[in-house]
Amino acid sequence: MSASIEIAGVSKVYDGGVRAVDAVAMDIRQGEFFSLLGPSGCGKTTTLRMIAGFEIPSAGAIRVDGADVTHVPAHKRDMGMVFQNYALFPHRTVAENVAFGLRMRGLDKATIAVKVKAALAMVELSGLEDRRPAQLSGGQQQRVALARAIVIAPRVLLCDEPLGALDKKLRQQMQFELKQLQKKLGLTLVFVTHDQEEALAMSDRIAVMNGGRVEQVGTPTEIYNQPITRFVADFIGDTNIFRGERVGPNLDVGKGLILALPPSEMQSTGVLSVALRPEKIRLSPRTDAAVTAGSCAHGIVENTNFLGGAVLYRVTLEGGHRVLVQQPNAGTSRLFIPGNGVTLEWTPADLVVLKD
Ligand SMILES: Nc1ncnc2c1ncn2[C@@H]1O[C@H](COP(=O)(O)OP(=O)(O)OP(=O)(O)O)[C@@H](O)[C@H]1O
Ligand SMILES: [Mg+2]
Repeated sequence: MSASIEIAGVSKVYDGGVRAVDAVAMDIRQGEFFSLLGPSGCGKTTTLRMIAGFEIPSAGAIRVDGADVTHVPAHKRDMGMVFQNYALFPHRTVAENVAFGLRMRGLDKATIAVKVKAALAMVELSGLEDRRPAQLSGGQQQRVALARAIVIAPRVLLCDEPLGALDKKLRQQMQFELKQLQKKLGLTLVFVTHDQEEALAMSDRIAVMNGGRVEQVGTPTEIYNQPITRFVADFIGDTNIFRGERVGPNLDVGKGLILALPPSEMQSTGVLSVALRPEKIRLSPRTDAAVTAGSCAHGIVENTNFLGGAVLYRVTLEGGHRVLVQQPNAGTSRLFIPGNGVTLEWTPADLVVLKD
């Protein structure tokens, strides 16, 4: 039976004074695919190691299904862990690697054999029982690590950048398979990654971390569409960020550009930052009509980046602001080239007001 995890005001200060994790609070639900996402050094691994019991928090508590496990040793937490470098035993066979956790738990030989067979079938490695890790591909080694973690029927599966060493195609395939396996087993899975696309594709919810703190917790669509802070808006995907002074219902961002604020945005005053995603801007050949103040501007295409299914344009507006615009590469939409005059239009409701 999988478990819920509560991280209550947890901090970790390493010897030497590094504050790796700073007052982190989050609730991970039973059966949830939950990702910790953030740049290198933001405290993801440290947070995961505290959940696993390999590190003891300097402050705060960790609860599993409501029970305080903050000082319970790792081997008594019933959690499976998959590491980035697989950490397989090189001199042992695939079957022996997978059997490890079961032998530690003192199960009899016959039971171990049955469970190992089932776990290997689950990750589609049946038939490779007698190979050693060096005789396997990277993806196969990753599957052995996964089988070794799930064979003990853990209450929680912890994965630290488990797909980091795989090439792109294989990585996408393993993302899909891991997600399927997680749903099939109803596992609570905490997944560490610094790859935002991977987190968006796989997670039920994501915690975005920065400098040891959690900036935002939300579903992939919430994190992408309604980033709360400038850091989150910037870290997840491409975005345009404008900063300016509120004047009535508008934001004056200088260089002659006025942005109409979303109709729902009544409270903020003074200096504000807003984000506007590149795909929320519509691009058309420049018209000579005067622009509608607040949701429209003229500019010149500086350069284009063909992405296959879409085209990314860098456009310089008349006043000098540089803006990213993404358009689908649909058969009907016209492609622009550097030097083209264009008109940009957007919907004020697509602007997201950020906390700095
Ligand atoms: N054992 C340790 N002793 C002292 N400082 C440490 C120790 N382990 C990690 N740190 C520091 O704590 C901070 C957070 O490290 P952590 O490994 O949790 O980051 P991360 O988010 O997993 O990064 P990455 O994406 O590079 O793996 C970093 O500044 C790191 O240098
Ligand atoms: Mg790490």
